[in-house]
Parts: sequence; structure tokens; C-alpha cells
Amino acid sequence: MPAIVIVGAQWGDEGKGKATDHLGSQVDYVVKFNGGNNAGHTVVIGQEDGSSEKYALHLLPSGILTPSCTPVIGNGVVVDIDVLFEEIEGLEARGIDTSRLKVSANAHVIADYNRTLDKVTERFLGSRRIGTTGRGIGPTYADKMNRIGIRVQDLFDEKILTAKVEGALELKSQILTKVYNRRAPDVQQTVEELLAHADRLAPYVCDTTLLLGQALDRDEVVLLEAGQATLLDVDHGTYPFVTSSSATAGGACTGSGIPPTRIDQVIAIAKAYTTRVGEGPFPTELHDESGDFLRNAGHEFGTTTGRPRRCGWFDTVITRYAARVNGVTDFVLTKLDTLTGLEQLPVAVAYDVDGVRHDEMPVNQSDFHHAKPIFEYLPGWTEDISGCRDFADLPKNAQDYVTFAEEHSGARISVVGVGPAREQAVVRHALR
Ligand code: GDP
Ligand code: IMO
Ligand code: MG
Repeated sequence: MPAIVIVGAQWGDEGKGKATDHLGSQVDYVVKFNGGNNAGHTVVIGQEDGSSEKYALHLLPSGILTPSCTPVIGNGVVVDIDVLFEEIEGLEARGIDTSRLKVSANAHVIADYNRTLDKVTERFLGSRRIGTTGRGIGPTYADKMNRIGIRVQDLFDEKILTAKVEGALELKSQILTKVYNRRAPDVQQTVEELLAHADRLAPYVCDTTLLLGQALDRDEVVLLEAGQATLLDVDHGTYPFVTSSSATAGGACTGSGIPPTRIDQVIAIAKAYTTRVGEGPFPTELHDESGDFLRNAGHEFGTTTGRPRRCGWFDTVITRYAARVNGVTDFVLTKLDTLTGLEQLPVAVAYDVDGVRHDEMPVNQSDFHHAKPIFEYLPGWTEDISGCRDFADLPKNAQDYVTFAEEHSGARISVVGVGPAREQAVVRHALR
């Protein structure tokens, strides 16, 4: 049976959490394979009495909300143990059973010194800052690559953990004190902080690669859910304004231990317009009242940091790029309802870079910074579409918008989101 990958097509917050939840009951495992609590996925679930429950997930895979599926934190994730238990406690208090969770013994752990380094580095960078979430993500992945990281399995041997913390702090203490004028972290205190939840963590920890390989052998369905998105990927994104992990489909393999030959579907989530949090280039960004309209109508404020998201028009150069880099089989186009009421909808189809037309993503970073979108203009609609469930129910102009986006994005648009709730979707092709 197949492994399915869900990725973000743009700069994050496309609605990956909702898409995972939409598939939840049809899959056996949901695996988070990259990132950490920099992610923020909002999932809205309608209740029997007509009300709805809203969940904000950061570290836990969105599949935690589906009782029939096993949520897995893969080896490619960086885990803040305190945040993990805060989230577990928060969900348990709301009646969600989290006991099925599995955590990879090879996942890396975010130590307090890396949260500190994330924040002081950003301050030091000043106008060159990335606009990180300040959660210690970048420094923790840097430690992993430098081979001085702390892994989940290290938490079960105090001697090894102490030696590893000592090793990591040898250089970091110098940097923190001499470059950033901070106090040197204490080895013993750091070890104690990391060990605070070790006993509680132990029952969740296992060889998740083996677990998932055996699940696929038994014909069970594994969904690999990306945090962040294509343009935030450390290799394929708008470097250096990216996160520090592999958020594209390839990352699903390294971040879970599932081989590429077992993946046969890649679903990319794209918002019907574009948003970005943090710094970095964004060709279709709006600085006028249209941007304010999208931000307000789409409630574009970060789930993790509460920052207002930068908003702009839909950009098919980006979605085409995402289709190519991820091998997208299906797009889910979310938040079409947010565009309701706009008279005219510009959609970028190419860029102008200093008088030269680019139909594909410019390879050169400074060209992308200078890229001016070349728009085609589509007519808008005013009808409320949040109750539509069939493509034919959508106003003609909304149908044409979806068809245009599909023709220019390089893969079919299988589902269209028309509201935040689980059932608010128009399914054109069943995802499973
Ligand atoms: P993620 O990080 O990709 O999971 O996305 P976020 O949860 O950070 O942001 C997406 C936001 O859009 C959340 O508040 C969702 O509830 C909401 N959302 C998802 N799909 C739709 C949709 O089709 N229409 C509307 N109006 N909201 C949606
Ligand atoms: P989800 O999974 C949007 C952005 C940050 C910053 C850059 C690097 O909800 O789509 P980091 O803390 O990762 O080192 O910050 O990446 N960023 C996100 N933007 N959605 C996310 O996750 C993000 N995770 C990180 O704003 O620009
Ligand atoms: Mg998000």
C-alpha cells in the first residue's frame, strides 16, 4: 500500500492541517517528518450539536485528532520536549486521546541554548534577519549537521547526555558569552531540563522507521505531513529566507525512513492567494488595501507567533515550481472563499526581471528579489461560496479561477477549500 505525502506549495500556512485532517479517517499513520514547533496547523472540526471545535497544533501531527490513526513524530523532526507535553496535556484536557503517539528515537531535541541562540542571532543580524519563529529550530538543525546534536534516545542515558551537552556547549558557551554577551549555559542545569520529562516520554519512543516499514508491508496507509512549505525548504526555497529543514517531498523520505519507491501520491496544498510570514522576497506581495482585504477576510495572522501574514495574489510560477520539485499528483486549493467580493483577481503567470520575461523560477536569488509579476486578470464573484460542495455549485467566475489556476500549475486541482471546517470542501477528484 502506498505512502502519501502532503506538502505546502507556497510559504506555509496553506491549510495543510485541514487537508491532513480531511484524509485522517482514510489513513492509518500520520507522520510529521520535518520542522518542529515553528509549524502551526489550525484544524476546525464540526460537532454533532452544530458547534465547532478549533485546534492549533504545532509539534503533534494533525492525525492526532483522528482516533483511528497513529500519529508519528519522525526522525527528521526537532522536538521541544516541554512543548510536546504542553500540547499533549492541552489535548488530553479537551478529551483527545494522545496515547497512540509514537516518537522517533532518532529525532533531535531542542535544548534551551538553541532557543537562546536563535533569538540572539536574529537580533545580531538586524536588517538581515530571517524573521524566524524564535523556537530554536535553525540552531538545532545546525547541531544535527555539525554532529553535536542531542537525540531523543540520548535522554535515556544520563552519562551520554551529559557528555553530549558538554561537547555541544564547549563552543556554544564561547559564542554566547564572547560574541553575544550572554551568560554561559550550565551543563548540569541543561541536562536536568532535558531530563525533566524523560520518564514520561519513554513509552512513546520507538524505531519509527521500522514501525512504518512494517505498516506498509501490511498494506496500511501512511500519510507524511510536511511542516512549512516548498519555498521555505532549505534547498529549494528562497534561501537564506527559509527554514532549516527539508519541507519538500524528498524530505519525507529522509525525515521518516520511508523510501521513495513506496511513495505514489504527492498532494500539495496551495492557498488561492499567497501569504508569507517573516522576511524574504515575495513578488506578488500587496502593500495596499487589497492586501488588507486578504489579511482580514482570510484571518491571516500566524498560528504560532500571531504575526500578521504578508499577503499577495496567487502566483502560478510558484505553484508550477512546487509541482516540479515535489512531483505533485494533486493540488488542494484552499481558501477560495476568501476571494469572494473582489471585483478583479490578478494571477501571476510569469515574472519580468529587468526587462526579461521568466516563465519559471529564476535560479538567481537577486533576480527573484527583483521579479515583477506579469499578471493575467480574472473577474471575481460576489456570491457566498462557503456552502458549495460540488464544482457545479460554484459561480462561473470561481470555476474559471480554479480552472485557470489548474492550467498554469502543472497538476490537477482535486479539492477546493471553501471554508475552515472539515466538511467545507469541493471535491473534484477523490484524494483516496
Ligand atoms: P497550515 O500551517 O498549512 O496547516 O495552515 P494554518 O493552519 O497555519 O493556516 C491555514 C488557516 O486557514 C487555518 O486557520 C485554517 O483553519 C484555515 N483554512 C484552511 N482551509 C480553508 C478554507 O478553504 N477556507 C477558509 N476560509 N479557511 C481555511
Ligand atoms: P506551517 O507548518 C509559515 C518561517 C518563519 C521564518 C522562516 C524561518 O504552519 O506552514 P524558523 O523558525 O523555521 O527558523 O523560521 O520560516 N516559518 C513559517 N512560515 N508557516 C510555517 O509553518 C513556518 N515555519 C517557519 O516565519 O520566515
Ligand atoms: Mg501554519
